[in-house]
Amino acid sequence: LEMYKIAVLPGDGIGPEISAQAVRVLEAVARRFNRDFYFTSGLVGGAAYDETGSPLPEKTLALCRDSDAILFGAVGGPRWDHLPVNLRPEVGGILALRKELGLYANLRPVRVFPALAGASTLKPEVVSGVDLVIVRELTGGLYFGKKYREPLPDGGTRVVDTLEYTTSEIERIARVAFNLARQRRGKLTSVDKANVLESSRYWREVVTGVSRDYPDVSLEHMYVDNCAMQLVKNPKQFDVMVMENMFGDILSDQSSVLSGSLGMLASASLGGNTGLYEPIHGSAPDITGTRQANPIASILSGAMLLRFSLQLSEEADCIEKAVAETLNQGYRTADIAQPGMPLVNTTQMADQIIAQIEMRSAHF
Ligand code: NAD
Ligand code: IPM
Ligand code: MN
Repeated sequence: LEMYKIAVLPGDGIGPEISAQAVRVLEAVARRFNRDFYFTSGLVGGAAYDETGSPLPEKTLALCRDSDAILFGAVGGPRWDHLPVNLRPEVGGILALRKELGLYANLRPVRVFPALAGASTLKPEVVSGVDLVIVRELTGGLYFGKKYREPLPDGGTRVVDTLEYTTSEIERIARVAFNLARQRRGKLTSVDKANVLESSRYWREVVTGVSRDYPDVSLEHMYVDNCAMQLVKNPKQFDVMVMENMFGDILSDQSSVLSGSLGMLASASLGGNTGLYEPIHGSAPDITGTRQANPIASILSGAMLLRFSLQLSEEADCIEKAVAETLNQGYRTADIAQPGMPLVNTTQMADQIIAQIEMRSAHF
């Protein structure tokens, strides 16, 4: 029986609440498929800063490097917002971890479960059937450029954030996106601001160059402002989308509304030796401790972990089907509440998903 080592980094706010449910679901899958998952938790973010003075302790990094995959919760919160930038849970924690592990490719699938077509604030006919993936460049761009402040003679301050990319950084993320598009519906939208930014003009050139290796994929370029509009007007036009780090951050939160809630979207961060899996949402300080957090984004991140890092696709499918069936039965956390449907808390939602996994019924 092969043992798989999974590092669990719960982090802050609702991070521990949702990742605990994802672990329970993975344990249920292990029982049903006779698999051996060995979970070890590590400190990260504000929780790590409070214990050790660092948002990413050496011990956590070592644990990650020694694991087959990482399940990440969320980091940050008002308690740590005053800290110097490199001690902040976001910059010194998750961003540093992505960079250290070389996780340059962030896949953020946006699917609309049929049962949730009516849970979005957008019209059901607009969102039903949406199935797209945002491929977000994760270790470069605006997030990782030079950043500084300098005093000016007039007493004011100049602040600088640069957006930098190299040829190879653009090429490798483009290849990830083309390969994914090739396995899906064969359409890639590259999102940029080439009418204004030099980095975008070069991005477009490099992506176009890479496209010659993928004659079976149709490539289109779209400006990011238009894309933000198209995503809510006619999201079904999209298959795979590839973009700069911050564009991907913003457009993925926006796209979550198609699926009903930010609490529905999972992600996989790939590129190095160990994949990291996390919901796209944050630590949600406004609902921490209220048991309202939707654990599905974290649970679906667990499914991506099984598929991409452990090559357990049948087990991953099982989780996804269990989530779909639980939603079909009407169970809803507060963020996806619909009239007349049973409202459940964080743990109860996971209970229902686990019950589906344990039920060896014919539709699996
Ligand atoms: P957020 O994603 O934490 O929350 C935005 C809104 O969505 C809130 O109203 C929240 O209650 C709701 N929400 C988020 N996840 C939910 C879930 N699973 N179920 C139900 N509702 C959910 O974003 P924010 O409020 O802007 O940021 C809060 C903190 O999280 C900040 O410190 C931010 O830096 C951090 N953050 C961390 C990550 C990460 O760790 N990867 C991601 C985003 C934000
Ligand atoms: C995300 C988050 C992070 C990001 C923050 C917490 C640094 O918003 O994972 O989307 O911007 O990448
Ligand atoms: Mn984000």
